Amino acid sequence: MTSLFNNSPVIGLPLRLSLKTRVTEGNWYCFTVAMKRENRIQQPSFLLALRFLALVLWSFPGARALDNGLAMTPTMGWLHWERFMCNVDCQEEPDSCISEKLFMQMAELMDSDGWKDVGYEYLCIDDCWMAPKRDSKGRLQADPKRFPSGIQGLANYVHSKGLKLGIYADVGNKTCAGFPGSFGYYDIDAKTFADWGVDLLKFDGCHCDSIEHLENGYKHMSLALNRTGRSIVYSCEWPLYMWHFRKPNYTEIRQYCNHWRNFDDIYDSWQSIKNILDWTSSNQKRIVDIAGPGGWNDPDMLVIGNFGLSWDQQVTQMALWAIMAAPLLMSNDLRHISPQAKALLQDKDVIAINQDPLGKQGYRLRKEDNIEVWERPLSDLAWAVAMVNLQEIGGPRFYTISMVSLGQGMACIPDCIITQLLPVKRKLGFYQWTSDLKIQINPTGTVLLRLAAN
Ligand code: GLA
Repeated sequence: MTSLFNNSPVIGLPLRLSLKTRVTEGNWYCFTVAMKRENRIQQPSFLLALRFLALVLWSFPGARALDNGLAMTPTMGWLHWERFMCNVDCQEEPDSCISEKLFMQMAELMDSDGWKDVGYEYLCIDDCWMAPKRDSKGRLQADPKRFPSGIQGLANYVHSKGLKLGIYADVGNKTCAGFPGSFGYYDIDAKTFADWGVDLLKFDGCHCDSIEHLENGYKHMSLALNRTGRSIVYSCEWPLYMWHFRKPNYTEIRQYCNHWRNFDDIYDSWQSIKNILDWTSSNQKRIVDIAGPGGWNDPDMLVIGNFGLSWDQQVTQMALWAIMAAPLLMSNDLRHISPQAKALLQDKDVIAINQDPLGKQGYRLRKEDNIEVWERPLSDLAWAVAMVNLQEIGGPRFYTISMVSLGQGMACIPDCIITQLLPVKRKLGFYQWTSDLKIQINPTGTVLLRLAAN
């Protein structure tokens, strides 16, 4: 686009500012603003007004969120599933089986190794913690051998470290791994979790025999949790299971859940990260606007610090999970993690983007020649921009981005300060609305930028 706007104020020139841009991919719209520049003071105030207007437009709340006052920013913590799965053999593998020892060790490290300080707060148990049967009163119970202190004992320990405890259950007749399901026991289970001092429930959707049971079950558990009076974050997989039958009603889901999984389980592989990003961008018109304080789309755990991703791919996961306003639930072994992965997961600038209080999820702006550009509006009229190089042949590639193409023309108007946050932090400096920025991106890597008002 030819620039109609230039940053050196020209006195008394009539100016017509025409912005053609897109809200989200494929959805072009156009607006024209006419104004007369009468003096040097008017330009900044007009531009400020324009930025303010943008803020107001972006700040419209989405659908009503679950009214429990929780997850005002995406949940941060640790969840055992991807890394430790359903290993119940504590005889053979005492250090990696699902036991209270594992969670106590992780709690200890979350406290001592800086994780809690940067925001990772919820230590979450996934499937396979239960005994195979409920007790005589119909309550779920932890496997007594692997959790000798019981969940209440573990919760006390986790709380003593200044952390919160998450637990897992299932809306159907059995959990995905075959342990007792909550169908028919929603009220008892909600009360049991509250009595134990649990702070988050991940509610899975396996072994549910009808859509009605699935929907009613997710709603019932949400209300039951609220009725306990304890603050319990409610993490759902409702839409993931709904998609098998019909399109989920996200407005409704947001009224009952604090976050919700949409897509398949994450694996420790680049293919899995790509699949999640593809699904998210293909469905962004449906899911992006629904996210906001109190309710988030959940693209599943962070697998940074494990085995399957190269350094650049780990950078891509961290950057894009920040852009997507995703819950940051690590699934890795905090006892054995490289300093590089730890620094990436504890990067305060990137976490600040993920946790931005405006709470707007980002979206894919464009894809061309195997480069994807994603952007996310932030508070204080700032923007985050991520550029991903998906070409898996050749070396680093150059990509030139024009400021005017970002943030619907508003990201850098009339100018901005750009900081590169990933793969390494460096100040790129002052840019004008008319400027181009040339950056280099490694194969399967991402460059994450923050554009701030000057
Ligand atoms: C499902 C969920 C996973 C995990 C497993 C546990 O597959 O999507 O995140 O909780 O069940 O069995």
